[in-house]
Amino acid sequence: MKRSEFVKINDIKFYSRYKMEETLYRLKKVHKFDLIIRDSSKSEVGYTLNSIGYDLLALHTLVEKNIVSQLGPLLGKGKESDVYSCMDDDENIYALKLYRMGRTSFKNIKKYRDLIGERAHFSWLYVNRLAAKREYEALKNIYALNLNTPKPIGYNRHIVVMEYLRGKELSYYKHIDDPLYIFNKIIDQARIIFQNANMIHGDLGEFNIVVDEVGNILIIDWLQWIPSDHPNAQSILRRDIENVCNYFQKKFNIESNVNEIIETFYQKKKKRFLFF
Ligand SMILES: Nc1ncnc2c1ncn2[C@@H]1O[C@H](COP(=O)(O)OP(=O)(O)OP(=O)(O)O)[C@@H](O)[C@H]1O
Ligand SMILES: [Mg+2]
Repeated sequence: MKRSEFVKINDIKFYSRYKMEETLYRLKKVHKFDLIIRDSSKSEVGYTLNSIGYDLLALHTLVEKNIVSQLGPLLGKGKESDVYSCMDDDENIYALKLYRMGRTSFKNIKKYRDLIGERAHFSWLYVNRLAAKREYEALKNIYALNLNTPKPIGYNRHIVVMEYLRGKELSYYKHIDDPLYIFNKIIDQARIIFQNANMIHGDLGEFNIVVDEVGNILIIDWLQWIPSDHPNAQSILRRDIENVCNYFQKKFNIESNVNEIIETFYQKKKKRFLFF
């Protein structure tokens, strides 16, 4: 499917290394399960995977690799993903994020173009696979810093498995015992990530921070991160910080100064350069 939407039967036979009879038998079987789509409008019949077929391939691989063994309930539905809870053999609970870009609209086409470049043909399955890889790698970079971002557990195709925090999005809470504590925690984490991993979240806000009942936080959803030397770094960092400051101001009456906060992001960094 890298080269064309539908793959011709002869190519499927070639890549699967089955005899033609076996290829046809198996294709018929998976088609019956609605995991692939058939196109018979051309001289040679072709097939393409649908998203459920792709889900099963990825889940199958994750099970084979002993990363997960059971799937739990849906935790959240984002614009671009479905997030389920899942468990491994030792009953550790994780969050399992399935990328679903292309499901809703083409509004964010720029984001997809960043992932795939200017190819003429592309499949949404491929875009979602690149997205999962990008988020997994971001989580890996940040995890090294020992902060409250999800520990990456594994990924395959369009699925990322990561640490789960039993909580709700920040936006869900009408009351928080110590909002200043949570606010400072978020800003501190963003600063440490900026200074040590050179990364900016790019979509920081009340929907991408999970908070539990005792004040633990988890900054999630790292797909759109940008490096701190990106040409738009300053404005994107400002937007991230403004989102957090405005939210805490409106909802919890926490006063803060965006400019002063942003200054602290660059201050320490400069010192580091001087000493090393
Ligand atoms: N590691 C996690 N622990 C707990 N809950 C999580 C975790 N990851 C995701 N969730 C839940 O799933 C929801 C969707 O996750 P996420 O924000 O990563 O997806 P998304 O599709 O990018 O969302 P959107 O584009 O709408 O911001 C979150 O808002 C949160 O409720
Ligand atoms: Mg989100």
